Amino acid sequence: MAGSSLGKQFGITTWGESHGAGVGVVIDGCPAGLPLCAEEIQAFLDRRKPGASRYATPRKEEDQVQILSGVFEGKTTGTPIALMVENHNQHSKDYKEIASYYRPGHADYTYDGKYGFRDYRGGGRSSGRETIGRVAAGAVAAKLLAEIGISFYTYTKAIGTVSISKTPEELLALPTGELKKAIFANPLYMPEVSAEKAARAYLDDCIKRQDSAGGVIEGLITGLPVGIGNPVFDKLDANLAKAMLSIGAVKGFEIGDGFLAAAATGQANNDGFAADNRGGVKKNANHAGGVLGGISDGSPLIFRVAVKPTPSVSALQSTVNKEGENVTVSIHGRHDPVIVPRAVVVVEAMAALTIVELLLDNLGSRMDYVRQIYGGLRV
Ligand SMILES: Cc1cc2nc3c(=O)[nH]c(=O)nc-3n(C[C@H](O)[C@H](O)[C@H](O)COP(=O)(O)O)c2cc1C
Repeated sequence: MAGSSLGKQFGITTWGESHGAGVGVVIDGCPAGLPLCAEEIQAFLDRRKPGASRYATPRKEEDQVQILSGVFEGKTTGTPIALMVENHNQHSKDYKEIASYYRPGHADYTYDGKYGFRDYRGGGRSSGRETIGRVAAGAVAAKLLAEIGISFYTYTKAIGTVSISKTPEELLALPTGELKKAIFANPLYMPEVSAEKAARAYLDDCIKRQDSAGGVIEGLITGLPVGIGNPVFDKLDANLAKAMLSIGAVKGFEIGDGFLAAAATGQANNDGFAADNRGGVKKNANHAGGVLGGISDGSPLIFRVAVKPTPSVSALQSTVNKEGENVTVSIHGRHDPVIVPRAVVVVEAMAALTIVELLLDNLGSRMDYVRQIYGGLRV
């Protein structure tokens, strides 16, 4: 199956199926000398674990990462970094039944149509477990970016019809450390107490009806310099959109005001420029969400991702079985009643991978950068 690789400067290839021996990633292109240990990667992976919340699958996924290569004496060596998580606690028999029909909203029908054969145990590569490799690689990318002052704030903006009321600007204006604290204060990663309470009630109702819910994840990235992203096919916003839409169950992507910009006027939508007091230029607003012409403009990057409701629900649905008969099914097994909270760290990982790729790519964009790196070197 082609298409499991992303990026060239900081290239990743994810591998593995949910009910095989394990899942993982190979990172090729991480610069040498980055301090890195398994605990830092584990901290990211722990954010996508089902955990104790009743709003995630009751599957117990320990997901302990092992660093197989590319790190020596606590630092990256510049060689490929292989990361692996073994699969334990698979209940393949839970999936025996779905071998006989196509789950509505899942990838069974299209995988069969494409390959004529599929690993039905947990969905194979279409399983949420495929995102483990992305999150492990994203942890390394985020570590690299943190060293140069680039920070990520990713959280649940909405679940079903319940949304937080604070804007990205209001959240970023919170005192240092308060936004991270608010995001990690509850298992839904929703940084507003009243909205989180209402979202729990919404989810309880969905669970009672044996149904599932979707939602919106918002991402804010601060500390980005001007100039990240390339002008035509590798625009920063285009690459972010591709990275996000490659996550299972993600159905929409917006940057800045996104679809709302379509109803605005030019005067209202444009971010005016003003001279700052250090001889540079700043923007008076950020409707663009930090990208102009596909290139970062120095303001915080603001984006949103729409996640559909979990396709596997116990509520009755119509489908077709192997014999070509119309049947009604109720899907059992251990599924997430809502994917959004577990996908928050997946979105953050994909954002970090997109930024690190374009940031490393940008090192060769100007002669003064090339001089800074190589000008003083004499062999
Ligand atoms: C972190 C994560 C967890 C997921 N958990 C489930 C799950 O428990 N049950 C399920 O049916 N789908 C789950 N999905 C969604 C499916 O992977 C996805 O809907 C499927 O691959 C079909 O792709 P599409 O929805 O993009 O068309 C999960 C996705 C992610 C990213």
